[in-house]
Amino acid sequence: MTQFGRDLRRRRVVAAGGIATARGVAAVLAAGAAGARLGTRFVATKEADVHPAYVEALLRASAADTVLTTAFSGMWPDAPHRVLRSCIQAAEAAPDGPVAQMSFGTTQVPIPRFAVPCPTRDTTGAIEAMALYAGESAGAVTQVMPAADVVRELAEGAERLLRAALP
Ligand SMILES: Cc1cc2nc3c(=O)[nH]c(=O)nc-3n(C[C@H](O)[C@H](O)[C@H](O)COP(=O)(O)O)c2cc1C
Repeated sequence: MTQFGRDLRRRRVVAAGGIATARGVAAVLAAGAAGARLGTRFVATKEADVHPAYVEALLRASAADTVLTTAFSGMWPDAPHRVLRSCIQAAEAAPDGPVAQMSFGTTQVPIPRFAVPCPTRDTTGAIEAMALYAGESAGAVTQVMPAADVVRELAEGAERLLRAALP
């Protein structure tokens, strides 16, 4: 067994990044992870407070439409993150000054170009020029579903795949 394998046995490891399907969850569990953490897949759920234009762009995107960058660094410098390439291009093309407004309670807050917040449902302005976070799992995110249905699909699907792989 490799050192990595021995480490996995000693500690509980949660796998993250690029996982969006039951097959992906089954693969990391089979490799020894204690669980899987999914981000992008849950952007396309009915409960997620994200702007519909963000969800639509995500549903159309494949992994090749995402890019690892430090572009959205306002308030959080030098932190690599993955976004839809289109939002970097839109932010570069946007005029100086705020690109959008977000409400925090009753206060409207201007969002500068290349700031880190992603657009919530009630954000107004150039949504396409805000940070549209998307993992390499983007291509597997094809429809908006209730979060409970996503969890059920992942858990039941992964269990089925793992049972089928047992000798
Ligand atoms: C809407 C959204 C917000 C995120 N916010 C953060 C964040 O605040 N900090 C961070 O480290 N990663 C953040 N991430 C990246 C997640 O850590 C990343 O998505 C995670 O590794 C899961 O990968 P996946 O999106 O391919 O499932 C965010 C991702 C999304 C989709």
